[in-house]
Amino acid sequence: MSNNIVVAIDGYSSCGKSTIAKALAKKLHFVYIDTGAMYRAVTLYFLRNQVDTTDAAKVTEALDNVHITFRSEGEQAHILLNGEDVSDEIREMHVASNVSKVAAIREVRHAMVKQQQLMGKSINIIMDGRDIGTTVFPDAQVKLFMTADPKIRAERRYKELVVKNPEITMEEVFDNLALRDHDDTTREESPLVQADDAIILDNSHLTPDEQLDFALGKIKPFTGQ
Ligand code: DC
Repeated sequence: MSNNIVVAIDGYSSCGKSTIAKALAKKLHFVYIDTGAMYRAVTLYFLRNQVDTTDAAKVTEALDNVHITFRSEGEQAHILLNGEDVSDEIREMHVASNVSKVAAIREVRHAMVKQQQLMGKSINIIMDGRDIGTTVFPDAQVKLFMTADPKIRAERRYKELVVKNPEITMEEVFDNLALRDHDDTTREESPLVQADDAIILDNSHLTPDEQLDFALGKIKPFTGQ
């Protein structure tokens, strides 16, 4: 049996999950896997190929043609969709507004969860998403559940997005987040819920360093470092 360490980080959109996950991976020399990016890449493929998401057979057929890989370049993790680097495009609004719908499709979730379980089978990983501690790795040694005030989350996301899209409004970003929270927590397939054994990390008023120290304190008993 494999004795690798899995750190599962779940929580709401734009809570800073990926920031802390990247920092932890760097510090501990673990591999970081951004599962939200995988759902975004599938969404991009479906949009580009006009896949009818209401037709399960079409979805399954399309999923056979979706190959997602990660490549790290220095500290940057890039996501490749069938060999093409789509790291920037998956962050655009047209993907963001459709991803919840795609992430709610049973066939999509099964395919992604299978890949994620394979990725974390034998190496030490930090994986972030919505269902990592509940569905993908229910036996993860450390589970963090991240949350933050919705207004603070929207402000953080807005600051990121406005650099690339000056037209975007705060209201648009807030509404998109609220919709995603609603969709993520109410969908039938693996809704976002806190695992019973997850540790809550509310970072509304914590600095990145404070968050990192908190998380490291929870992981260190397992790494022996
Ligand atoms: O973390 P993110 O905002 O990049 O995630 C994009 C979408 O994918 C979001 O609507 C939730 C969904 N998602 C999911 O359903 N399960 C995961 N493990 C990760 C993300």
